[in-house]
Amino acid sequence: MKKYNSIAIVGTQWGDEGKGKITNYFASRADYVVRYQGGGNAGHSIIYNNERFGLHLLPSGIFNTNVKNVLSNGVVIDLKGLLNEIEGLKKAGIVDISLFISDRAHIVFPYHKEIDALQEENRKSTIGTTKQGIGPAYTDKVARIGIRIIDLYDDDYLKEKLQENIEEKNRIFKAMKIDKKIDFEETYKFALEAREKIKHYVVDSSLLVFKALEKRKKVLFEGAQGILLCLDHGTYPFVTSSSPTSSSIPLNVGIPSYSISQTIGVTKAYVTRVGKGAFPTEFENEISKKIREVGKEYGTTTGRARRIGWFDVTLIKHAKRVSGLTGISITLLDVLTGIKELKIGINYTIGEHILESIPASERIYNDVKVNYVILPGWNENISKVKSFYDLPKNAKKYLEAIENYTGVPVVQFSVGPKKEQTINIENIW
Ligand code: IMP
Repeated sequence: MKKYNSIAIVGTQWGDEGKGKITNYFASRADYVVRYQGGGNAGHSIIYNNERFGLHLLPSGIFNTNVKNVLSNGVVIDLKGLLNEIEGLKKAGIVDISLFISDRAHIVFPYHKEIDALQEENRKSTIGTTKQGIGPAYTDKVARIGIRIIDLYDDDYLKEKLQENIEEKNRIFKAMKIDKKIDFEETYKFALEAREKIKHYVVDSSLLVFKALEKRKKVLFEGAQGILLCLDHGTYPFVTSSSPTSSSIPLNVGIPSYSISQTIGVTKAYVTRVGKGAFPTEFENEISKKIREVGKEYGTTTGRARRIGWFDVTLIKHAKRVSGLTGISITLLDVLTGIKELKIGINYTIGEHILESIPASERIYNDVKVNYVILPGWNENISKVKSFYDLPKNAKKYLEAIENYTGVPVVQFSVGPKKEQTINIENIW
């Protein structure tokens, strides 16, 4: 028997794989839902009581009062964004939220967002960030000048650190001849207001989650973004500033390395990417346009149209290695209905060489050639199927091909946004 009763939900591609829906699916059976990295750059909508809520920071279990929702030390917290999300829930009558915020989590201040936007504007080659201040906030953390949640409650320290930070940013603006000045008083006043509103949520979340694991509570770790956006194992520099891998969970939550019992990789039936960066299976034609429209492939945080590509086996093999997948959950399978031929990229070559992994260099990655297999599509409406066996023959073959090429069992698939449209092939949790 596994020591702990936990599950990690990670995205295996470049984000937007439909993790929100899958996390929500499992969240209803969890005791704890823990967000472990990223911040307001994530985004998914959840339908609750027929109303659509856009969540960026709050964990997906927030609609369920039986679930304890945790923002761990690895998350960067935009206080304004967080308070807006809580306010939105309250307006909809969801007052009784069960939220725990790590005292060690770093804060995203409004100036981090401004710097994010300015850096993007001034880059020769933009990254295409969400401008949510993620990079600048993690930069301050690594530079050891960041301000953490706990610091909000130490008046002298907060004043000193915030002043020091703001003076430094203003000096940089001046040196760069950027016409911008951050106002200390305004930022400080906001911090004081925000700390009152969140004070009853603040805890040592490492201890909280560890105790829950030890009691064999069901703990769900909710990843944001996708493995290919990992700061270390993604397509650097077109990545985010944290690690969405399940390997990062122990550090980002403050729990033992053996805490993750299983990792489900949420994987789109095709691939999408927002922002810049290499994308070997990308294509643009009538089929990609159809996929974009049917799959509503526009960003939740930024509204940007997503780039579209065929299923890419190498991405999943990479995710399997760096993040340890025990199964994959295929999302948006229904979006492929009506496409005559479906391509699956099975490997990459450079010249004569078949690559065993994704090249570290973005420039080399841009030049790989993809080898495809072509599978026949299906026309039958699959949105009401209740099991794998109900799927048309070609849809079954498509899933089997994914499983065979990636070497990871397909344990679940979904054919629509509703909960009953997520179908288990294996009993997971
Ligand atoms: P940042 O995380 O805002 O710094 O953006 C860095 C890169 O990650 C950009 O290419 C973003 O488009 C991408 N990114 C960040 N969050 C998400 C997400 O939730 N889904 C998809 N892409 C994301």
